[in-house]
Amino acid sequence: MTTTINSDEIVAIEERFQLATYKKMPLVAERGEGVWIYTSDGDRYLDLYGGHAVAGTGHCHPHVVKAIREQSEKLLFYSNLVYSGARARAAEKLVSIAPESLTKAFFCNSGTEANENAMRMARMTTGRENIITFSGGFHGRTADAISATFLGKYREIGEPNVPGHLKAEFGDIDSVRAVADDSVAAIMLEPIQSMAGVRMAGSEFYRALRELCDERGIVLIYDEVQTGVGRTGDWFFAGSDAGDSVVPDIITLAKSLGSGIPVGACLVTEEIASHIKENDLGTTFGGGMIAMAAVTATLEAIENDRLLANVCEVESYLREHLKEVEQVVQVHGRGFLLGLEFADKAKKVHEALLEQKIITGTSSDPKVLRLLPPLCLAKDQVDLLVDALRKIF
Ligand SMILES: Cc1ncc(COP(=O)(O)O)c(C=O)c1O
Repeated sequence: MTTTINSDEIVAIEERFQLATYKKMPLVAERGEGVWIYTSDGDRYLDLYGGHAVAGTGHCHPHVVKAIREQSEKLLFYSNLVYSGARARAAEKLVSIAPESLTKAFFCNSGTEANENAMRMARMTTGRENIITFSGGFHGRTADAISATFLGKYREIGEPNVPGHLKAEFGDIDSVRAVADDSVAAIMLEPIQSMAGVRMAGSEFYRALRELCDERGIVLIYDEVQTGVGRTGDWFFAGSDAGDSVVPDIITLAKSLGSGIPVGACLVTEEIASHIKENDLGTTFGGGMIAMAAVTATLEAIENDRLLANVCEVESYLREHLKEVEQVVQVHGRGFLLGLEFADKAKKVHEALLEQKIITGTSSDPKVLRLLPPLCLAKDQVDLLVDALRKIF
């Protein structure tokens, strides 16, 4: 029998027994459905942050829950030493929605791990050492990924950093050319820099990066941990109009790929795959059956519910209606990866919205509030946000 504990007790126990590495919002999440989070006190919050961009299909999408439940009754886990129908289906489905030249998937458990493996594959493919990443980019917190992160103080947290990392300025192709010598294995970027405040480059930047990589034999890696799996209104930023149809050699994914079940992936070209042999990469849990069932069901749910079209339609509606809030100076980003820029501190807006039971995210730019809602967000829920903002101001 489980004993019920109230929300104050839950907070006190977590504070006491969990390492205090996150500043938490004052709510105890108990249940989720679509864009809504229900607390143990019976309150309902509109979730425009999706638990760090994870709830792409919305909380507890029935198709995903069913797939996980059914798989859990058959086999929870076996490693890559055996074949599995769940893994075969996930790999085939993921490759089928990827840009045509990305034909093989490697599965792991998180975004940082996907990026570590992508950088390793680039080094193995080229026999070179250095990776160029960008000011404002965030790629994770394990040793190589944090050393590739030039946003704020993250890199310092990871000191001593591992060697093999060079920095260029996001959006400035000349700064890339200046460091892209024959020691460079890869150029890796978040095509839309999320944590930096939802920053995009002009589409010509992505095209110029592709040309530079082709010219100098460098691997181009898109970290689509946030932008992937439908968030921008396309399956991926890679190949989309916003990025001038540029396709990199590797895409990395995580976050919403498993609708909340931890899973990461790298999608790679045949050329990259041809340099990777048995035992070069590995991870115990990568490709596990529950995660794989979640991936397939996530991608099917996005298709069945026509969520890509929904993102495009509701993004336009949101942008139009945000014009009614004059304190929103600019709206950055694409699809449901949006940065609302205010003249003053976004943190205050975040807190005021939370009081009105709307969850949003802040960013490293103090003026930018981030929205990373589930892809099923509807127009009437946008109205709730706009009304709340009007009320605040
Ligand atoms: C763009 C990007 N890359 C990588 C990561 C790291 O992913 P994870 O936290 O799953 O390791 C994040 C996490 O926020 C991210 O936003």
